[in-house]
Amino acid sequence: MLLETKRVVKRYKRGSQTFNAVDGATLSLDPGEFAVIKGHSGSGKSTLLGIIAGVISSDDGIVNFAGQDTSRLDDNALSKLRNDKIGYIPQGHTVLANMTVLENVCLPRYIGERKDSPTAKALELLERLGISQLARQYPSELSGGELRRLSIARALLNSPELIIADEPVSDLDSEKAAEVWNLFAEAANGGTAVLAVTHSDNGLENINCKYFTMQNGGLTND
Ligand SMILES: Nc1ncnc2c1ncn2[C@@H]1O[C@H](COP(=O)(O)OP(=O)(O)O)[C@@H](O)[C@H]1O
Ligand SMILES: [Mg+2]
Repeated sequence: MLLETKRVVKRYKRGSQTFNAVDGATLSLDPGEFAVIKGHSGSGKSTLLGIIAGVISSDDGIVNFAGQDTSRLDDNALSKLRNDKIGYIPQGHTVLANMTVLENVCLPRYIGERKDSPTAKALELLERLGISQLARQYPSELSGGELRRLSIARALLNSPELIIADEPVSDLDSEKAAEVWNLFAEAANGGTAVLAVTHSDNGLENINCKYFTMQNGGLTND
């Protein structure tokens, strides 16, 4: 097993009330497995993915990734694990404005331990995603859908063991969405585990994945 979460809980405060945004979420993923989480807005999907990605701390439960209890890792170890082994595509746009598209995609290699040149792989990913013509532009010149594809390329650059994708196709048309799902499916065929949140099944018809539903912080295996 590559990823296992057990009874994960995240509490948030709203005014004087505390509520469980994530309420006992349990799931497991083997290498090469493709899992899709669906659920209404506000049901806790992004919070759960953030906890698994190590950018949000949990209040209870266990997250075990690649044999390590991630809640016990310090910030440095967590950053290293994330950069080397996890490709995280958050729901918002996270790019560095003063770097070109190509430099943004190559960033995980500059930070990580592998020092071989990432340029060819980065350009190939940009090509697959249909934005290679933008490689030398800056993020401020890109549309929302183009920025989304930039962060997908960046997440795939280091051939991660786990891809965590939070609504990765929400601002893409169906053709580009299908290309993204196909890229993820190829990664899964190569042994990468994929955990994605989506609102729509479009483009997933021919992909072998397991479905979960999130409701009021609770996760059920469909
Ligand atoms: N930092 C935060 N502080 C307080 N409440 C939050 C915070 N982040 C998210 N929430 C609340 O937690 C719930 C789950 O949010 P989220 O995980 O973003 O849901 P989803 O991704 O399923 O739309 C929502 O009710 C949201 O308002
Ligand atoms: Mg969300």
